[in-house]
Amino acid sequence: MAAKNFKILGIDTSCDDTCAALLEVNNRQVKILSNVVSSQVKLHQKYGGVYPFLAKREHQKNLPLVFKKAVKDAAEIDLIGVTAGPGLEPCLWQGINFAKDLAEKIKKPLILVNHIEAHILANFIDRELASIKFPAICLVVSGGHTGLILMKDIGKYKLIGETRDDAAGECFDKVARILDLSYPGGPAIAAAAAKLQITNYKLQITLPRPMINQKNYDFSFSGLKTAVLYNYRTQPEKIRKSKKYVRAMCSETQQAVIDVLIRKTLKAARDYKVKSIILGGGVAANEELRKQFKKKAEVFVPSKVFCTDNAAMVALTAFFHRSDNFKSIKAESNLRI
Ligand code: KG4
Ligand code: ZN
Repeated sequence: MAAKNFKILGIDTSCDDTCAALLEVNNRQVKILSNVVSSQVKLHQKYGGVYPFLAKREHQKNLPLVFKKAVKDAAEIDLIGVTAGPGLEPCLWQGINFAKDLAEKIKKPLILVNHIEAHILANFIDRELASIKFPAICLVVSGGHTGLILMKDIGKYKLIGETRDDAAGECFDKVARILDLSYPGGPAIAAAAAKLQITNYKLQITLPRPMINQKNYDFSFSGLKTAVLYNYRTQPEKIRKSKKYVRAMCSETQQAVIDVLIRKTLKAARDYKVKSIILGGGVAANEELRKQFKKKAEVFVPSKVFCTDNAAMVALTAFFHRSDNFKSIKAESNLRI
């Protein structure tokens, strides 16, 4: 007898996107029935960053709409997964409460999902489970996190290094703000860097590669942002507002981040003798990072829509943990893997 199609609803409100997705798993095949992301970018653009209480209000408003778009018939849902952390606490609670009420209404189990684990497991959305061999080293790079995680299996993780200050995506967002580019900074920086023409590249900018030669697996990106700020302040108005300067600065910032991420990840992969390297998180959508990583090693990386925040990864993570028994429900803004 064929196994029943199992339908999982995922919900994520950890930051500024309201996300709901419906996955169907059948014979280990994952099918995405819907993947809805309602972005608040326009709202937060004015401030150059996310305002948690504004984001919370938007989640409250958007959740019923996003859910309706993602799910045609709530009676079909077998399981619900919701992000419980890490993230912005007022935002997390919106998703949790919505999911909890729904679970009670349709009498289906609710699973609390770790957002960082979901970014890692996003790699299994459109890939065979067996194609990734363990142990693996995972680089999770997003707006809130930058960490290296040793993964022995699904559900078995050890954090071996993380950022001591700003996350890589946060660094991009802050540098974009200095250079008067739009929010979120990562895609804006990548686009400006891609326009740099080396032929008329007269502005030589060299930024630091923080902690690149240190033996540990930690990162630090706040000094990089400060180096950009100092350089920017020393330039005459005419130069720093020029496209050439902005593009050169974006290119060098992006390269500095990429150099550090690749070097440290490959070092961890060698030291721990892993069989696979996995990337995840919003910054893993960066084209140059993907390209340069692939030149150096075989890496697994989700397609771009599953790198940035989405609920399909949350639904899949819930599916993997469906037998776990969570006794209490809590939003944990600092939840660790
Ligand atoms: O995973 P994500 O959507 O949210 C968090 O969990 O934080 O990551 C958002 C971060 C932002 O800092 C954004 O600037 C960055 O990912 N990002 C990128 C790109 N797309 C998003 N950074 C570099 N290049 C990109 N293409
Ligand atoms: Zn994320």
